[in-house]
Amino acid sequence: MTRCSSPGKMILFGEHAVVFGKPALALAIDLRISSAVTPSSQYSVNGHPMRKQHHAYISASLDEAWGGPPINIDTSSDIPSGSGLGSSAAVTVSCVAAMLAAKGRSLDPEAVAMRSFAVEHKVQGRASPTDTSTSTHGYGVLVSPERRENFLWRIELGERAWNMHHCDVPPLQFVVGYTGIHATTGPLVTKVKKLADTREDARKAIDRIGEIVLEGVGATKARDKRRLGALMTENHGLLNSLGVGHPALDALVAACKESSYGAKLTGAGGGGSMIALTDDVEATTKAIREAGGEPIVVRVGCEGVRIESR
Ligand code: MEV
Repeated sequence: MTRCSSPGKMILFGEHAVVFGKPALALAIDLRISSAVTPSSQYSVNGHPMRKQHHAYISASLDEAWGGPPINIDTSSDIPSGSGLGSSAAVTVSCVAAMLAAKGRSLDPEAVAMRSFAVEHKVQGRASPTDTSTSTHGYGVLVSPERRENFLWRIELGERAWNMHHCDVPPLQFVVGYTGIHATTGPLVTKVKKLADTREDARKAIDRIGEIVLEGVGATKARDKRRLGALMTENHGLLNSLGVGHPALDALVAACKESSYGAKLTGAGGGGSMIALTDDVEATTKAIREAGGEPIVVRVGCEGVRIESR
């Protein structure tokens, strides 16, 4: 049995705009998915026969990283699916890593990130490698169209290219507010593409999000929580203008106003989760719960993919 685990993520700045090649800043969180590979008489998931439509990411991971005799894949997850916290990326990264490790390969993060992005792209359609690279590397990942210091790897697709960089994560405290509304990333990404193809204001919003990311990197390094909070709130408004908000997300963001530096939706939007940067975890947790969300207190900057047993 070979078992690997990898973390979920929260996007601090830059979701959606990153699909257009703009920068993004994502942080690994302390919710993980683990995937174990064992020999089996048929391809199966958690002991049940594998079905492509039900196990899209795992089945695509098999095509991308296995090519061997039948196996069973057992998965266990701390991350609610469709919550915007990177469950698809973490299941893909942990499966790809476990399959490569089961073939006797050493864990090469760049190879895992490349193959995992290929899987996500195949299943999701239009996508960026932000989630899969963050789940692979862990800590903080700055995605940018140009190469900068602390470079990790580069992923290209057609005319678009994303350079991944390690980012140190200072001890910032976030509380996630999960709406309980399951959102599927692919259609939301398509919706933003249609808007960007037809509307100048949408293209401007995407450009501004790209600037916010770089300002946010500076504020993160300076540990300037007030600036970070203001940028988060601005980023949230821009995502709303791109049509990926949801009234439940707005209610949670508004509820955190008093107790946090700022708040925004995280991930694809359309439901899923928001995040608030705070020094007062108790008050923020209470505010999210009272506004109808599920508060999840997360630690950021956690380790990336790892082999748990072999
Ligand atoms: C989803 O977590 C992030 C998006 O930017 C999509 C992507 O980068 O593939 C919405």
